[in-house]
Amino acid sequence: MSRVVVLISGRGSNMQALIAAGVPLSAVISNRPEAAGLEIARKAGVATETVDHRLYADRGSFDAALATRIDHHAPDLVVLAGFMRILGVDFVNRYAGRLMNIHPSLLPAFTGLDTHRRALQAGCKIHGCTVHLVTPELDHGPIIAQAAVPVLDDDDEGSLAARVLAQEHRLLPAAVRWYLAGRLSVDRLRVGLAGSPHHAGNLRVPEVA
Ligand code: GAR
Repeated sequence: MSRVVVLISGRGSNMQALIAAGVPLSAVISNRPEAAGLEIARKAGVATETVDHRLYADRGSFDAALATRIDHHAPDLVVLAGFMRILGVDFVNRYAGRLMNIHPSLLPAFTGLDTHRRALQAGCKIHGCTVHLVTPELDHGPIIAQAAVPVLDDDDEGSLAARVLAQEHRLLPAAVRWYLAGRLSVDRLRVGLAGSPHHAGNLRVPEVA
């Protein structure tokens, strides 16, 4: 059976979507002991751990401690599901090709933080989320799948975030399943999805509400 480790920092709703979709998780690890998602994972019977970044002097020692905990589970795939720490080059290279992230924008637009506010400020008519493989450059790795949502005239940050999050909860489990089924192929930044005509399965554009 495939082994998946999920890293979280807070609410854990994307991790919960993976559990709800029946993705078997070997462990959920948080860099914050107070992360609400840890309790959700425990209630679902998933092993949880904390590697508190505040206890480490620098990024390198935190990354090394985190990698030790992850490697204990010998995962096929490590999923960053709302993990809000920047990971160093050594860490990223250690998990090259098996480290996946969900980001709340249509990359390469709006890397980093406050993506919904920035999409609104920029006057975007379309926004969304991206699942991608992690490379050392922040939020720039090969794109596995994207889901687009409309930006409506009366949207505020909260309403737009909620519309995107609903799509995140569909996109991430699908991407993880494709990965575990061996359906993804990577050619530089381009990711193909086997068995999907014209690779259309990895683009989601829901109806405008
Ligand atoms: C999600 O919107 C995820 O895309 C985002 O944090 C949120 C976590 O929510 N991730 C990032 O911004 C990473 N740069 P969750 O804890 O409920 O899954």
